[in-house]
This record gives sequence, C-alpha cells and structure tokens, in this order.
Amino acid sequence: MAMVSSRLVFLFSICILISQAIAQPNFLYYSCLDKGNYTSNSTYNTNLNQVLSSLSSNTEIEYGFYNFSYGKSPDKVYSLGLCRGDAKLDICRSCLNNATNLLPLLCSNQKEAIGWYDYCMLRYSFRDIFNIMEDSPFYM
Ligand SMILES: *[C@@H]1O[C@H](CO)[C@@H](O)[C@H](O)[C@H]1NC(C)=O
Ligand SMILES: *[C@@H]1O[C@H](CO)[C@@H](O)[C@H](O)[C@H]1NC(C)=O
Ligand SMILES: *[C@@H]1O[C@H](CO)[C@@H](O)[C@H](O)[C@H]1NC(C)=O
Ligand SMILES: *[C@@H]1O[C@H](CO)[C@@H](O)[C@H](O)[C@H]1NC(C)=O
Repeated sequence: MAMVSSRLVFLFSICILISQAIAQPNFLYYSCLDKGNYTSNSTYNTNLNQVLSSLSSNTEIEYGFYNFSYGKSPDKVYSLGLCRGDAKLDICRSCLNNATNLLPLLCSNQKEAIGWYDYCMLRYSFRDIFNIMEDSPFYM
C-alpha cells in the first residue's frame, strides 16, 4: 500500500513538472520554497545579489560546480550552481547567468528558491545547501 501511494506521489510530481514546464518556457521547472521572505534592500537582499553575481561572473571554475556563500548569519546566503556533465563551459556559464537573473525575479523576496534549465540548475538559500540536499526529489 505504501509502495502504491509513493508511486502515485511520484507520478503526480511528474505531472506537475510537465505542466510547469509548459507554463514557464524559461525554466524547465522552478520552485520558490516559501521558507521565508526578505525585504527589498535588506542585508539578505544585498548578500543574495552579491552571491549571485559572483556565481555568474566567475571565470575560474571550469568543472560546472559552483558553491558560494556570502555574508554573516542570520543573513548569510548560500548558493549552488550545477551544470549538466555534458554542457560546454560557455553554455554552462550562459545558463547560470540566465538563472541568476531570472530566479530572483520569479521568486521575488523569497529566501530560498530552486530552478532548473535544460543545462543547469541554481539554488539559493539561507540554509547550508549541503545539509538540505536530501529534501530535493531530484537527487535520487
Ligand atoms: C512570504 O510572503 C508571502 C506573500 O507575501 C506569504 O504568502 C508567505 O506566507 C510568506 N512566507 C513566510 C515563510 O513567511
Ligand atoms: C532600494 O534601493 C534603491 C537604490 O538605493 C532605491 O532606488 C529603491 O527605491 C529601494 N527600494 C526599496 C523598496 O526600498
Ligand atoms: C560548499 O561551501 C560551504 C560553505 O561555503 C563549505 O562548507 C562546503 O564544504 C562546500 N562544499 C563543497 C562540496 O565544496
Ligand atoms: C540565456 O538567455 C539568452 C537570452 O535570452 C539566450 O539567447 C541564451 O540561449 C540563454 N542561454 C542558455 C544556456 O539557455
């Protein structure tokens, strides 16, 4: 019984994924996780901008994995950018650049958000992302 219902949940998530992909041509999927809000021009806002701009402007990392944080608790922002293994470096950077611009617009004033393009994913949070990975259904 538990098996059946978890399969149903899984199928249901796929339906949501597909419908969101149709509704939002830029991201394949994104989610504003509603874990908290920040106000415009707050320290959190500034730190988030800082972390996203260092992620999108980085030219040293060449392996498609970006792990940045900035600021001091409780306004510290963690971010994680990841490109698909077969994405070329310029596509990877362009993809993350697009994601860092779009995600905060779509999830305005949300402290935590995640977005997936074809070639990359971006996530940011006030929580250490390496401790919350297991929350995500995408890391199966
Ligand atoms: C954030 O703000 C939205 C709308 O302004 C509200 O619906 C939501 O409950 C808030 N979330 C939290 C975690 O405070
Ligand atoms: C945030 O700061 C900018 C520039 O300092 C200002 O133009 C803008 O009106 C401020 N926004 C809010 C919501 O305070
Ligand atoms: C990611 O960054 C955090 C804090 O900036 C650090 O503690 C952690 O070790 C890093 N993880 C990896 C896999 O680089
Ligand atoms: C980023 O956005 C630009 C402009 O919309 C688009 O031309 C480009 O293909 C996008 N990059 C990726 C990797 O999706």
